[in-house]
Amino acid sequence: MVPNHVGIILDGNGRWAKERGLSRSEGHLEGAKNLDKLTDYVFAKGVKVLSLYVFSTENFKRSKEEVDYLMDLFVKMFKKNFTEYNKKGYKIVFSGSRDNLNDDVINVMEEVTSKTKDNKNGTINFCLNYGSHKEIVDACKKIVNDNVDINILDENLFEKYLYNDLPGIDLLIRTGREIRLSNFMLWQLSYAELYFTDVLFPDFDSKEFDKALEEFNRRNRRFGGIDYEKKTN
Ligand code: FPP
Repeated sequence: MVPNHVGIILDGNGRWAKERGLSRSEGHLEGAKNLDKLTDYVFAKGVKVLSLYVFSTENFKRSKEEVDYLMDLFVKMFKKNFTEYNKKGYKIVFSGSRDNLNDDVINVMEEVTSKTKDNKNGTINFCLNYGSHKEIVDACKKIVNDNVDINILDENLFEKYLYNDLPGIDLLIRTGREIRLSNFMLWQLSYAELYFTDVLFPDFDSKEFDKALEEFNRRNRRFGGIDYEKKTN
């Protein structure tokens, strides 16, 4: 089975660079190049939604040099890629806050979103300046602002107030040796299968993605129910 929605926490660009005597920026560039190849592979496998944690709200705590480099890289990559996204039919959406983002970044995000909005061959959700707690608090604020009747508020309606209306994540992959969620899509991860790998993101290629899929297919997903065929007592 192919997961419908895959989330990836792309970690380890800095360590990948350090291990090779390169700068952190070179690691991020390599990560971005890898991401382009990986995205095509993931959609070719039949995945419909790919959520990518490319910059957390907490990442603003990094050095100004690194933050500036990453922001420039986003602008360059989105400008370079969006003809490709259209050719391939990928719809691009962004999740996150606009606070602290500069106009160049916001403008390119808006342009890419509007120019790819009718595409149907897969959705890439870039989580940029994203934090899950903030997403949930922002949703609550919008609900209060809309004077939503609490008697009709349920999980389905709540989800409509998140940054994007996306299905739950089926498979979460985190590269780069850490075993934590780092405030990534906590609402959407409630029934996800979690896959952690030591491979650093620039080295996470199609073969590594296949390993994650194999592991996903070994899992027995019950969504809180009981698998009576397998239960022995
Ligand atoms: C984590 O590695 C990675 C990031 C904070 C940035 C991820 C961004 C990219 C791969 C570029 C994406 C490009 C586009 C166009 C969306 P780290 O720096 O935390 O690595 P470390 O833990 O080894 O230091």
